Amino acid sequence: MSILETKKLSRSYGDFKAVDDLDLTIAEGEIFALLGPNGSGKSTTIKMLTTLLAPTTGDAWINGYNIKTQKNDIRRIIGYVPQMISADGSLTGYENLMLFAKLYDIPRNGRKQRVEEALKFMGLEEVMHKLAKEYSGGMIRRLEIAQSTLHRPLVLFLDEPTTGLDPIGRNVVWEHITALRKQFGTTIIMTTHLMEEADSICDRIALMTRGKLAIIGSPADLKASIEKEGATLEDVFIHYTADNLKESGSSFRDVARGRKTSSRLG
Ligand SMILES: Nc1ncnc2c1ncn2[C@@H]1O[C@H](COP(=O)(O)OP(=O)(O)OP(=O)(O)O)[C@@H](O)[C@H]1O
Ligand SMILES: [Mg+2]
Repeated sequence: MSILETKKLSRSYGDFKAVDDLDLTIAEGEIFALLGPNGSGKSTTIKMLTTLLAPTTGDAWINGYNIKTQKNDIRRIIGYVPQMISADGSLTGYENLMLFAKLYDIPRNGRKQRVEEALKFMGLEEVMHKLAKEYSGGMIRRLEIAQSTLHRPLVLFLDEPTTGLDPIGRNVVWEHITALRKQFGTTIIMTTHLMEEADSICDRIALMTRGKLAIIGSPADLKASIEKEGATLEDVFIHYTADNLKESGSSFRDVARGRKTSSRLG
């Protein structure tokens, strides 16, 4: 069953179309990634789906609720971890979570238990009474995920949850996210610039360029779509976005030519 659907979802900033007629259907319980170069419209899409930004045209529904006319219904069933750090450094992990427990209307007599469970689930039990500003980047990300899932959302949006984390920190975050899906059936919609991560974790991927869908499918579908033996997701990314990179001032073609030359030279 589909949990999220967009129809020609679009957002312009002045004359510039950041998201351009996006049609997506996401199934319940999927781990779904939006990939694409910087500025391709991933965060803008997520901001529209989380009701924080109004679409210019087009529409979307989550669990049947409309993102324009039923914002409050949507806000109750989603969790969101923004691209920029959102935890309050002047509060402890425990205090950060208690604040959100109130915001999400978790009944007073169950709050403490729910917060402690969430901290434990994210592996933050030992640091829960330390100030968040003393946390490592990975701990902060886990705290934000705990925060955004306190109310057991149906759909969790994660905008670059592992950017800036070391490989161990990334793995810990992903272990917890996959456990979340397993335990509560949460649908996960995320962005990342790490192709290996998307390849190993996601059920399906939508690759965006300039606000449009370049291709959508499972990691295996995407790799099979380009004519290259043993293609990786990085090859797929470059295949569909090379023009975009060229136009944005980067000299991908020069690099590619250079590489070919050097491999010929051995
Ligand atoms: N508030 C804004 N005003 C004007 N332009 C904006 C605004 N927000 C985003 N944009 C532009 O819209 C485009 C899409 O931005 P968006 O943040 O959605 O990209 P992204 O795919 O998330 O990129 P990144 O990988 O760098 O996070 C970019 O060209 C950006 O400059
Ligand atoms: Mg972004």
